Amino acid sequence: MHSSIDETFYGNFGVRVIDLNTDLLEVRNLTTSFRIEDDYYAAVDHVNLTVKKNEVLAIVGESGSGKSAFAFSLMGLHNKAKIEGQILYKGQDIANISPNKLNKLRGNEMGMIFQDPLSALNPLMIIGEQIEEILTLHQPKLSSKDKKVKVIDLLDQVGIPRPEHIYKQYPHELSGGMRQRVVIAIAIANKPELLIADEPTTALDVTIQLQILELIRDLKNEINAGIILITHDLGVVAEMADRVAVMYAGEIVEIADIYTLMSNAKHPYTRSLLNSIPTITDTDEKSKLHVIQGIVPSLKNLPRQGCRFKARIPWIDDSAHEENPQMHEIAPGHFVRCTCYQHFHFPDQS
Ligand SMILES: Nc1ncnc2c1ncn2[C@@H]1O[C@H](COP(=O)(O)OP(=O)(O)OP(=O)(O)O)[C@@H](O)[C@H]1O
Ligand code: SF4
Ligand SMILES: [Mg+2]
Repeated sequence: MHSSIDETFYGNFGVRVIDLNTDLLEVRNLTTSFRIEDDYYAAVDHVNLTVKKNEVLAIVGESGSGKSAFAFSLMGLHNKAKIEGQILYKGQDIANISPNKLNKLRGNEMGMIFQDPLSALNPLMIIGEQIEEILTLHQPKLSSKDKKVKVIDLLDQVGIPRPEHIYKQYPHELSGGMRQRVVIAIAIANKPELLIADEPTTALDVTIQLQILELIRDLKNEINAGIILITHDLGVVAEMADRVAVMYAGEIVEIADIYTLMSNAKHPYTRSLLNSIPTITDTDEKSKLHVIQGIVPSLKNLPRQGCRFKARIPWIDDSAHEENPQMHEIAPGHFVRCTCYQHFHFPDQS
């Protein structure tokens, strides 16, 4: 195991050197396990990835694949989970710093838009005060008057009508969409250099959605922010992402730049997500196309050994599976787990 910050064991594809000029976040072998009854189960399993400055990295995967557990781990927000591995933010391992230091980074340099806005807001505080609290972290000397002006402006930016009125309301008085916008306002209040956006626009109508995506893009363009964008919406991915990581059962199964992923995805799981594996229509063995059925198993039911994906492609001969499937770099920057893709006949292949 390597310990210096400029070397990493990166699956089986060698050593990656961190460049602090371009790399913002480097996650190494991150494993997040939850205790269920008397054992620990990994919801995030040896994840390795990099987020560069001025980059949107999208994370996609079915419900239960570990996307939010990953995001919470980065922000140090799991209360009881066991976290292993490294989270190097600007080269500093924030998985192992004091809660005080991490608190300063959160809401200051690092912002998060939560999938569940209600749990992210304090039910006992009016919206205006919650946002002011965050602004104070960054600019402690800001006068009360200026703070209020900024809050109203932020609420306006995230598409909240009558911001002066919302300023005085409590979270439970707002609709789900409004709360989500408040959470977005809090996340971007201090222009974070790293923004983790977990399903940021799901509860919003299309016009507001576009406005929010534009705000996220501004952050990237104005201050070179790195963005992790977690979403089920492949339209949003195509629109926003520079690179995409595909997650299945806590593991990354494919990473590529957006163009490669949309045009030349290899892992059957990615193909399935992109909806490009048609149903079995042909009786000819060679041109048979396979559908991936089932759902992500619950944590307790995930296979503990070998490949977690095996159960979902039962037509592959047992001898073809790797014992411990690793990521392979099949083209520069395009990583695919195992050899799964070689056992597929895609429509565009003879
Ligand atoms: N605090 C927890 N304790 C125990 N298990 C948990 C906890 N949080 C998440 N899990 C489990 O970890 C797995 C991953 O959950 P997670 O919420 O990260 O999925 P997700 O990819 O964000 O799904 P979705 O797309 O629905 O938001 C699931 O099996 C979930 O039940
Ligand atoms: S080929 Fe590899 S990735 Fe695919 S199911 Fe088998 S072991 Fe898993
Ligand atoms: Mg989630």
